[in-house]
Amino acid sequence: MTKVRIAILASGSGSNAESIMKWAADSDIAEVVCVLSDKRKALVLERAKNNNVPALAVSKKKNEDKTYFEQRMIASLEGYRPDWIVLAGFMKLLGPHFLKTYDKKIVNIHPSLLPLFPGVDGYGDAFKANVTESGCTIHYVDAGMDTGEIIAQKKFDLVPGESFEDFKARGLAIENKFYPEVLEKLFKDIV
Ligand code: GAR
Repeated sequence: MTKVRIAILASGSGSNAESIMKWAADSDIAEVVCVLSDKRKALVLERAKNNNVPALAVSKKKNEDKTYFEQRMIASLEGYRPDWIVLAGFMKLLGPHFLKTYDKKIVNIHPSLLPLFPGVDGYGDAFKANVTESGCTIHYVDAGMDTGEIIAQKKFDLVPGESFEDFKARGLAIENKFYPEVLEKLFKDIV
């Protein structure tokens, strides 16, 4: 069976990327063909190498036009022929050039119950707002900030008196399990 070819884009630690690589290594329906980071020193690139997945670094140059930057990302990805782009802590907003190239085949995970708390610090914003429940959202990516069509959400309650660090760590562990489960369902329908 032909597998869905996934490229992961990530900017940071890459715990979600790692769980997706581990899931895909045993999957009949998907494979991770490369991991691309816009941060040369991101831990996610080490994680990719440790999982025998090609690790690509494409950082934005100072004053570089976004379209050129995205063209360089697309050029790096091209040789790996990804069918889908999976964002896992990729902290740049994608522009029209990239979105058009991978039209409707880009998904993201966001650390809040969207449409609540979009932006760079979902858990932080939810915690500051004293919410009693939080969660994460997997959604298609469009030109807006975390505005694309929602695919799935996972809720969890806050534990009274819990520290922010504990809350965030719990949320991230839930994301790590949830993301591969949702990708499995999503791709099962198309292979
Ligand atoms: C995750 O919490 C993810 O939901 C979030 O960044 C973290 C990355 O962690 N993404 C966003 O905030 C996107 N707007 P990881 O590098 O350990 O996977």
